[in-house]
Amino acid sequence: MAENNHSNGNNHCENNHKMATVEKLFQVVQPKEDDTGNKVTVVGVGQVGMAAVFSMLTQGVTNNIAMVDVMQDKLKGEMMDLQHGSAFMRNAKIQASTDYSISAGSKICVVTAGVRQREGESRLDLVQRNTDVLKIIIPQLVKYSPDAIFVIASNPVDILTYVTWKISGLPKHRVIGSGTNLDSARFRYLLSEKLGIATISCHGYIIGEHGDSSVPVWSGVNIAGVRLSDLNPKIGTDSDPESWKETHENVVKSAYEVIKLKGYTSWAIGLSLSQLVRSILSNANSIHAVSTYLKGEHGIEEEVFLSLPCVLGRCGVADVVRQPLTEDELRRLRDSARLMAKVQNDIKF
Ligand SMILES: NC(=O)c1ccc[n+]([C@@H]2O[C@H](COP(=O)([O-])OP(=O)(O)OC[C@H]3O[C@@H](n4cnc5c(N)ncnc54)[C@H](O)[C@@H]3O)[C@@H](O)[C@H]2O)c1
Repeated sequence: MAENNHSNGNNHCENNHKMATVEKLFQVVQPKEDDTGNKVTVVGVGQVGMAAVFSMLTQGVTNNIAMVDVMQDKLKGEMMDLQHGSAFMRNAKIQASTDYSISAGSKICVVTAGVRQREGESRLDLVQRNTDVLKIIIPQLVKYSPDAIFVIASNPVDILTYVTWKISGLPKHRVIGSGTNLDSARFRYLLSEKLGIATISCHGYIIGEHGDSSVPVWSGVNIAGVRLSDLNPKIGTDSDPESWKETHENVVKSAYEVIKLKGYTSWAIGLSLSQLVRSILSNANSIHAVSTYLKGEHGIEEEVFLSLPCVLGRCGVADVVRQPLTEDELRRLRDSARLMAKVQNDIKF
């Protein structure tokens, strides 16, 4: 049985008595339109998926959410719990089902479904297992929302974004990985703690692979246009007496620390996904570090998805920003690309 429900349903004509009341209450001028124009489907109602849904609904990014998972009871429970919060939202339509038809007409499909690493399982095995999950999910989403933009969060996110691009057959601008938008946010937060100013006033990007081999672009880190590398030419290097390099090391470590402490990460990735969805839905042309097709950029020769700052709008990725990078930053980015390509070669589609 698939659960299929929503909070502001206009099907208030359950019996004649009720209908008469409704007819007495309203003089219909024009039948209501069902399409809110901002429908977002989230596949995977685990920790990440629900944090993303909650952020999007409470931040007013969308008021039309469809949730899909394989766990019926969890889906129904999450849907009902959110629907009970309708009085605090903007006439939200919240649906949930194991059946993908519920996702029809989505502007954006966010994929957070995934299996976790088993004991003794290699990273490559996880890639194959999550590829097998995407082989089920992606064709269904494409079938019901052929014009949607796809935002992938499941890990390893860069490789799974490539897998989604391959499986979906969609143009590259419509397949986006959440990538290092989260790593960049963590970086800016840690900078803000060091500098005693607001996170939004700390500008800097982490690019490349989401996770361990990510690359902090120290050459571009600035506060109000003042580049920290102009004040400290050794910033971010091993020979920096002030050890700013640790800020990036702490970005990488902090994800593991949160997982160790609470078992998973959720709020920050949920907010990050909400920001990306807002930029796309509102055609904001705002810039975020997201995982995108990179062959040909910065001398990368492989067909890989890695993060660079991208202009996001209604079409998905409109532009990739050509950041000037140092030799060291370029080398690290190209190393990541080679590693991604190596892993991708062993995937069975
Ligand atoms: N990109 C990032 O920055 C980032 C950050 C945190 C977590 N993640 C990743 O997000 C993913 C989800 O993490 P989580 O903590 O929410 O996990 P979780 O276990 O809490 O939730 C995963 C959900 O996916 C569902 N699922 C599994 N197979 C499915 C299928 N075939 N179809 C539909 N749904 C299916 C499960 O039922 C479950 O509800 C993981 O891969 C995790 O590593 C990414």
